[in-house]
Amino acid sequence: TRLSRRNAFRAGGGLLGAVGALTFMAQTSRAEPWTWAPEGSIVGSGNGADPLTMWDPEADPVVADVMDNADVPAVNRLLATWTHNGQPIPAGLPPNLRDFMEYARQLPSWADQNRLGQSFQFTQKRGTYLGVLYAFASGMMSTVIPHEALAVYYSRGGSHLKDRIAKTAKFGYDIGTVNAYAPDGEMIVTCVKTRIIHAAVRHLLPSSPHWPDDIKPISQNDVMVTWHSLATTIMRVFKQWNLNIPPGESDGYLHSWQLAGHFLGVRDEYIPASWDQADDQAKQVLDPIIAPTAEGVSLAHGLLDLGFDLDLTLLSKPILGAFTRFILGDQVADWLQIPREPVWNPLLQVAWAPFVAVKEGVQGVVPPTKDVAWMFDEFLRQFVLWYVAELHMPLSIEIPQTNR
Ligand code: HEM
Repeated sequence: TRLSRRNAFRAGGGLLGAVGALTFMAQTSRAEPWTWAPEGSIVGSGNGADPLTMWDPEADPVVADVMDNADVPAVNRLLATWTHNGQPIPAGLPPNLRDFMEYARQLPSWADQNRLGQSFQFTQKRGTYLGVLYAFASGMMSTVIPHEALAVYYSRGGSHLKDRIAKTAKFGYDIGTVNAYAPDGEMIVTCVKTRIIHAAVRHLLPSSPHWPDDIKPISQNDVMVTWHSLATTIMRVFKQWNLNIPPGESDGYLHSWQLAGHFLGVRDEYIPASWDQADDQAKQVLDPIIAPTAEGVSLAHGLLDLGFDLDLTLLSKPILGAFTRFILGDQVADWLQIPREPVWNPLLQVAWAPFVAVKEGVQGVVPPTKDVAWMFDEFLRQFVLWYVAELHMPLSIEIPQTNR
């Protein structure tokens, strides 16, 4: 396609451009037919349609109409006043948008407060490294998901990366709060707003001269791919670190993401009922499609540079790069053109898993030396400082009016 050739050109015509072009064409259809069965979903049934062929028929026409015919800045000002799950929808919104929000905010019948309680325990115990993982396992992985990298790069957020990351981080923060889906929590609001933004992106991106004509952005499949880059990837990393997570906690964490998927507009028939089902689905939708694009490489380096203007020595680009390589492996790190780091990479390989295992109370682990443990603790502490200094501000997710 036109875009692929331009990518190849921009990347200097090397391997990167060639690989990007190949995956990009493969993305509009599947190498293997869709086989993940709706029996494995939270509702246990469905018609089995391939999620590559589905978008958001409830939100898309409403949001397109609002963007074409309503006063979008005024709508955004009203949306900014809607912050808590239990709060009424603000008066004055266009009636079709209000009706959609009223529908989209309803808890599904399968929501289970007991399971959610366990989710909070999961997050509470792992809060310090969960944030780093959302950023450098999930966030980095999003840069090797071709559809997502392109959508983010060519939408407005692509040129306002810190703002974009802050808003995504708010999603990761809200989902882990004790009352995420309760009336005084904020997660339903965050999800419903995000669902509206995704519909806005579907309306805007096709008019970008950089966007390929044959792709309609953000399919149900795309959303589940991202879901797996978040939830499934984090559980896979924990498994790799040999953490013994109590089944109730891991199930609670799953449930908080099942609800997030639902409120983002994913059909219930695509939402996995268990981590095993999630893993099976990820093997079909996520694992085979990760690949570099010039846009993704650029976004990844934007992420690695984020600690740049603060005096946080352990958040330097080489150390964040080493952490990325450690979590996502050599192939992804090489695709992203992250250089090897001679000290941190071997150290992480040897000492990180025991460091975390000790924190988790796993018995019989030989802990890392005091110096190494101090350094890893300091790394996590600096990440939290960075988060508080750079990202923790009042945020409002807004309908964009332009592309990049
Ligand atoms: C916006 C989260 C899936 C592309 C957002 C925002 C959040 C978010 C919180 C609002 C941020 C802002 O306003 O800057 C998520 C979550 C997903 C998901 C949790 C799945 C579990 C996807 C997918 C794509 C995508 C699959 C593309 C293939 C975008 C784009 C924006 C956006 C282009 C527009 C904001 C901008 O201008 O950058 N998403 N998203 N998202 N998302 Fe997603």
